[in-house]
Formats: sequence, structure tokens, C-alpha cells
Amino acid sequence: MKLSPVTLLSNSVLVAAALVADPKPMLDERQAAQSIDAAMKAKGRKYFGTCTDPNRFNSGQNAAIIKANFGQVTPENSMKWDATEGARGKFSFGTSDQTVKFAKDNNQLIRGHTTVWHSQLPGWVSQIRDKATLTTVIQDHVSGLMGQYKGQVYAWDVLNEILEENGNFRSSVFYNVLGEDFVRIAFEAAKKADPDAKRYINDYNLDQASYAKTQSMVRNVKKWIAAGVPIDGIGSQGHLTAGQGANVPAAMAALCGAAPECALTEVDIQNASSSDWTNVVKACLNQANCVGITVWGVRDNDSWRPQGNPLLFDSSFKAKASYNQVLAALQ
Ligand SMILES: *[C@@H]1O[C@H](CO)[C@@H](O)[C@H](O)[C@H]1NC(C)=O
Ligand SMILES: *[C@@H]1O[C@H](CO)[C@@H](O)[C@H](O)[C@H]1NC(C)=O
Repeated sequence: MKLSPVTLLSNSVLVAAALVADPKPMLDERQAAQSIDAAMKAKGRKYFGTCTDPNRFNSGQNAAIIKANFGQVTPENSMKWDATEGARGKFSFGTSDQTVKFAKDNNQLIRGHTTVWHSQLPGWVSQIRDKATLTTVIQDHVSGLMGQYKGQVYAWDVLNEILEENGNFRSSVFYNVLGEDFVRIAFEAAKKADPDAKRYINDYNLDQASYAKTQSMVRNVKKWIAAGVPIDGIGSQGHLTAGQGANVPAAMAALCGAAPECALTEVDIQNASSSDWTNVVKACLNQANCVGITVWGVRDNDSWRPQGNPLLFDSSFKAKASYNQVLAALQ
């Protein structure tokens, strides 16, 4: 069945209505023809996902679209450090609990995002200057956050954005106080907190194989895994602009060769050319260990960078040509 934006939208609404009365038959029928998550799974992968949080899935057509077309959820903001441990030892999971419940109610995988990141980080953490305190603080944060969802999360972005564009370590409180050892500290804490969750290192601008940052990620992850640091995967965020999709297949070949698994974790493409989404899908499908693709939002004007209409649905929640390109690339 060929997907048209109009049938997609109307079917999403119908599916949402049908879910109340009889969840199974219509959803199965519809997904077999049109869901990019179903198409991704038919290729032997685990999911095609998106990010969300209650402010999104409680408004407009977001919930209906996420249920009908996606199979994995990443909390957009609700699991970040500032949202979950604003004061030391005082954890708050009110919002992230709702997102996890939404995903579980809809049988969707969850990517936890993120335990250790220099941004959206409370001031009390950035002010720490001694190694012992920061080590304990990292361990307690990882254990508190991952422990809250133990056994419920497919994969965690344990570390996010630790590299500079030139491939050096970013000058964050973590690197400045602990040196490179914060990598081991974080991954070991993650393994202890939820041994069965996959542990990822995630970053942006890993979209070209020859780029210094990509090469640094590949080199360092191989080195850390060889040294026994429990890393399972590399996440490439995939925040792209027009034409950049062309380089992603070679970049993913390099990244996926450095770890047991890999994923595209936050994809959006500003002013996408007709081949960009196709190239991104192929970049994952070409690698046997690429488990899934996550786009960073549902509709264009809810994107964190709405310029250039970077997502798969327009501001009226209609599936765009980009959605059809993704579906075609998966078929
Ligand atoms: C996208 O296209 C718009 C309008 O054509 C342009 O103003 C904008 O600079 C472009 N953005 C990027 C990131 O290419
Ligand atoms: C997105 O576009 C829709 C439809 O035009 C509008 O109702 C909504 O307020 C917009 N949202 C944002 C965040 O701009």
C-alpha cells in the first residue's frame, strides 16, 4: 500500500480511536503497510523511534503518531541532570516517570538520555573541584537515575557530547577534575546500576568518516573497550543540514566498526534534499550492528531547531515527503 500524507494522518486518528475499543487488529493492519517502525523491524532492526516528553505527547496528534509510527521513545529533556537531581541527593522523577509509562503502555523501547552531560547540568555539580567528591556524585547520580528505571530501559546514553570538534576532550567539569578517568567511572557505575541495559556514548557531528571528531570517537572507544570499560554502543546524533546525509553511510561504517552496536540517536535534517533521509536510513541498514534510528521530535515546528523543517511531520501533523522517503528506503 502506498502511503500518502493524507491517509497517514487520517489513519493515525483512526488508530487512536480504534485503540480505545480494540487495540490489535487495526494497529497491526496499519503498521504492516505504513509504520516506519514496523518497516525497520522487518529489516531485523530493533526500532524506529522519536523523542518526546509529556508536554508533547499530551498535546495535538503527537501521541497518536508516536503510537502508530514509532517503536521507541527517548525522553527529550525529562531525564537530564537538571531535571532529575537539581539538588544533591534530591531526585525528582515526576516527569520522566510519565514518559517511561507512556512508552511502556505503548510497548515501546526506551533509550535513557542522559546520565553524564556537561549541559543542562546543575550549578552544584559544575562547582565541584575535588576528585573524590565528583566521583561519588557521578556514581550516585548514575545509580539513582538508572536505578529508578532498572530493567525498563533498552539503552542509556551514559556519556553525552564529551568531545570537541578537533577530537580532544571537551573542557567540562568532568574532564577538568577527573581527566579521562570519568569515562571509566561513568560506565562502571552504569553497569552496576542496570547491568542489562546497553551502555552508549553519544555525540553530534560524527557525520563524516574523515572528520577529526569521528576519528577520535572511533579511536577512543576501541581503546576503552580494549581496556575493559563496559561500553556497548556508539550513538551518532545526526543533526544534519541539506546534503550531509551523503557522508553518513561511511561515517556509520567507521563508528559501527568500533563497538558491539551503534545507532542514529537524534536525527533531524534541516532543508533535507530528496536523498538525505534515504542516505541516513541506508547508513544504518548497511551496518549489521546498527540497532535503530531515532528522530529528534515529531513535527517540524516543535523541533529544538525548527529552521529548515527538519522532521518527518509538518506543523499540522501531516506526514511529509521525508516520511515517505524513509519508508521507501526501508522497503
Ligand atoms: C534552510 O532554508 C531556508 C529557506 O530556504 C534558509 O533561510 C535557511 O538558511 C536554510 N537553513 C539551513 C540550515 O540550511
Ligand atoms: C506549530 O504550528 C501549528 C499549526 O500552524 C500551530 O498551531 C502551533 O502553535 C505551532 N507551534 C509552535 C511551537 O510554533
